[in-house]
Amino acid sequence: MEPLRSRFQKDADKGAEAYAASIPFDQRLYEEDIKGSIAHARALAKAGIISEKDAEFIIMGLSSIREEIERGQFQFKPKLEDIHMNIEARLFEKIGYVAGKLHTAHSRNDQIALDLRLFAKEANSETIARLKELQRALLDSAEGNLDVIIPGYTHLQHAQPVLLAHHLLAYFQMLERDVARFRGCLERTDVLPLGSGALAGVSYPIDRSFLAEELGFSRISQNSIDAVSDRDFIVEYQAAAAMTMMHLSRFAEEIILWSSSEFGFVEVDDAYATGSSIMPQKKNPDVAELARGKTGRVYGNLMGILTTLKALPLSYNRDLQEDKEGFFDTVDTLLSTLDVCAGMVRTLRVHGERTREAAAEGYILATDIADYLVKKGIPFRQAHTIVAELVRYAMDQGKTFGQLSLDEYQRFSPLFDQDVRSITLESSLAARNLPGGTAPEQVEQALRMARRLLDV
Ligand code: ARG
Repeated sequence: MEPLRSRFQKDADKGAEAYAASIPFDQRLYEEDIKGSIAHARALAKAGIISEKDAEFIIMGLSSIREEIERGQFQFKPKLEDIHMNIEARLFEKIGYVAGKLHTAHSRNDQIALDLRLFAKEANSETIARLKELQRALLDSAEGNLDVIIPGYTHLQHAQPVLLAHHLLAYFQMLERDVARFRGCLERTDVLPLGSGALAGVSYPIDRSFLAEELGFSRISQNSIDAVSDRDFIVEYQAAAAMTMMHLSRFAEEIILWSSSEFGFVEVDDAYATGSSIMPQKKNPDVAELARGKTGRVYGNLMGILTTLKALPLSYNRDLQEDKEGFFDTVDTLLSTLDVCAGMVRTLRVHGERTREAAAEGYILATDIADYLVKKGIPFRQAHTIVAELVRYAMDQGKTFGQLSLDEYQRFSPLFDQDVRSITLESSLAARNLPGGTAPEQVEQALRMARRLLDV
C-alpha cells in the first residue's frame, strides 16, 4: 500500500490514479520543493522539534535527491501522485525513518502554495528582465531610424505623418506599464505561506520569520486559511501576461502588415521568417504570426484559472491542482514570445524611402493646411470645411496638394498664399512640438527619458 492509503482497503483504480496524479507536470517544481523542505528542516531543528543531526541528515538526503533529478536519474512515479510525495518517498529510501520527521508541522497544502510562490517570483523577475530587453531593442531601433517618417494611421487610413521612432515609443510605453504590472504582481507574490499547515496553522513553535528569511520572502502570510487557498498571484500573473500578449499581438500585426508587398515598410530578417512548401517566392513572417496567434492560449489560460477558482469553497480543494499547467504554459509562452520579438526587432530592416513615399502619397497634410488657415485668422471648423472641399477637388483632378496651383488654392480661400508651399512632411512633424508629440525634438527627449526608465 502506498504511503497515503493506509486508511483504505484497496489500491486506487488505475485510471483514477493517473487522473489524479500531478507528477507529470509538477515535477517542474522539484527545485522549489526541495528548497522549501530544506528550510523547513532547519526551522524544525531551530525550534528544537528535531535534532540538528536529524536536520543535517534530511538536508543531505534532499540535496542528493536534487542531484539525482538534475542528472536525470530520478524515477518519477505517478503512483506517488505529486512532486512532494515523490521526493518524500525517495528520502525514505535514502535515509530511512528519519525522513518521517520532515513532515512535522508541514502539509502538502502549504508546501504547494510555497513552491508555486517561489516559482512565480522567479517567473515575474524573468518576465520583467525580458520586457526590458524588448524595450531596449525598440529604443535601439527607434534611435537607429530617427529620420524615418511613416504615415500615421487612424482607422488604418492615412491620418498624419509621424516619426517611426514615435510609433515605436508607443510600444515602449505599453511595455513600461506591463513592467509595472509584473512588479506589482511580484510584490504581492512575495509572501511566505509556510507554517499554515493544512489550513489551520501548525501546533509547533516554528519561526515563520526565520523561514521567510531563509527562502527570500519579505513578508509572511497573515491568515493560514487564505495562505493555502489563495491563487490570486497566479491569476494576476496571467492577467498581466494576457495584457502583454495583447500588446505584442498588436505589434506583431503591424510587422505582418508592414512587411506585405502592399506596404513594403519593413523586412523581417531571414532568421525570423520561413518559406513556403509550395510557393518558392514566399517569405513569411511566421514568428510575428505566432506571437499574434499564441495570444489566444494565454487568454484561455487566464479564463481557465479564473473559472477553476470561481465559487471554490475555502480552504484547499484538489481543484487547485489545475492551477499549474495553464500557468506554466503562460510563463513559457510569454517568455519565449518576448525573446523572439526582441530578436525580430533587432534584425528588422526598415525601408525609410518607401515609408516616406507612402506618407507623401495621399492628402496626409490636410490637417496642416487647415492649421495654416487657422493661423491666418479663421475658426478651425471653417478651415476644416475649406480643406475638405480642396481635397475633393484635388482628388477629382487627380492631383496632389503639391500639384495644385496657387490659383486653384485661392478658389477655396483668398487666405492661401505662396507660403502654403512650405507645408511639408517635415513641417508637419516639427509643428507637433509639445511633450508627447511627434516633433523630432520631442521624440529625442522622449528617447532620453525612456533610456533612463530602462535603468530603473
Ligand atoms: N498536487 C497537489 C496540488 O497540486 C498538492 C497538494 C495536495 N494536497 C492534498 N491535500 N491532496 O495541489
